[in-house]
Amino acid sequence: MVKVTVCGAAGGIGQPLSLLLKQSELITHLSLYDIVNTPGVAADLSHINTQSKVTGHVGAAQLEEAIKDSAIVVIPAGVPRKPGMTRDDLFKINAGIVRDLAVAAAKFAPKAFMCIISNPVNSTVPIVAEVFKQFNVYDPRRIFGVTTLDIVRASTFVSELIGGSPSTLRVPVVGGHSGVTILPLLSQVKGTEKLSQEQIEKVTNRIQFGGDEVVKAKDGAGSATLSMAFAGARFALNIVEAVVAGKTGIVECTYVDLEADAQGASGVKSLIGGDLEFFSVPVELGPEGVKKILPIGEINDFEQKLFSAATSELKGNIVKGSTFITEGAKL
Ligand code: NAD
Ligand code: LMR
Repeated sequence: MVKVTVCGAAGGIGQPLSLLLKQSELITHLSLYDIVNTPGVAADLSHINTQSKVTGHVGAAQLEEAIKDSAIVVIPAGVPRKPGMTRDDLFKINAGIVRDLAVAAAKFAPKAFMCIISNPVNSTVPIVAEVFKQFNVYDPRRIFGVTTLDIVRASTFVSELIGGSPSTLRVPVVGGHSGVTILPLLSQVKGTEKLSQEQIEKVTNRIQFGGDEVVKAKDGAGSATLSMAFAGARFALNIVEAVVAGKTGIVECTYVDLEADAQGASGVKSLIGGDLEFFSVPVELGPEGVKKILPIGEINDFEQKLFSAATSELKGNIVKGSTFITEGAKL
C-alpha cells in the first residue's frame, strides 16, 4: 500500500496538487485532509478512473485517520501572502499549523517522507525537524522543503532568454525559498554565457522575486497555486518513483537538513559557512529519501555575492523555526 496524504487538500494548491497525484498509478491511497471541504474534493476526485482510493478527512478529530501509516505527507496547509507581505509575515499563523500537522505525522506516520510547501519554508522545515526530534523519530533524510517552484520558474525564465525547451532545461537553484535566499546558479547553465551581465542580474532577480509577480497579479486573491501544484506534484512524484519504484538517478534541489548526508554536505558547508543547518542543495533521491547531497559545483563572483547576501536572512529564518519548538510549549 502506498498512502499519500495531502494536508491542506481543499486549498488553492491542495486541490490541483491532489488532482495531479491522482494520476499516479504508483499511489494506492490518496488521503485528503483539511479543516474544510475535503469530503467534496474527495468525492469529486474519486470518480477519476485511476488506481488510487481517495478518502476525505475534515477537522482535527479526523487527522489521525487521515495521516496514519502514510508513506508520504505533503503539506500545503496555511495562509498565502497578500500584496505587501513577506513570506516571513505568514509565520505567526502558519508555524502553529505546520507544528500541529508535524506532531500528528510524528505520532501516526513517523517514517513518512515529509514534503513541506507551507511558507515560510525556510522556517517551517526546521519546525517539522524539531517536532520529529522531540518525538525521537527524526531522520533528516526524510524531511524536505519543496523549493521546486524556484527551479520550474528558473527553467521558464532562462529558456525565454537562451531558447531551447523549458521542460528539459535544468537550472540549479540552491539556498532557501524567499527573495535573496533563492540562489539560481546560472553560470552552470549552458547557453547563459551569451547573456550580458545586465540580463543575468535581471533574470536572477526575477527568479528570486517570481512569487511577488504572482501575488501582485492576483491582487489580494493569494499567491501561486497552479504552478505550485505542478512543482509540488513533480517533487512528490519523484519521491514516489525513488522510494516505491526504486528508480535511481533522480536529482532535485530541495531544502534539507545538511546532516542528511554529512559527507556530501562537507563541500557545501565550505562554500556557505559552517553554521547553516538547512540549505537547498542538489539531492540524489533513494529508497530512504536523501541518498546523497551532491556538490553545488563552481560558482562565479556574482553568485558568490548572492551567497553572502543570503546567509544572515536564512540563518535568522532557521533559528526562528527551530526555537518556535525548542522554546515553545511542551508538545
Ligand atoms: P489556500 O488558503 O488556498 O489553501 C490553504 C488550505 O490550508 C486551506 O484549504 C485551509 O483550509 C487549509 N488549512 C488551514 N489550516 C489548516 C490546518 N490546521 N490543517 C489543515 N489544513 C489547513 O492557500 P494556498 O494558496 O494553497 O497556499 C498554501 C501555502 O503554501 C501558503 O503558506 C503559501 O504561502 C504556500 N506556498 C508555498 C510555495 C512554495 O514554493 N513552497 C508556493 C506557493 C505557495
Ligand atoms: C511562491 O514562490 O510563489 C510562493 O512561495 C508563494 C509566495 O508567497 O510567493
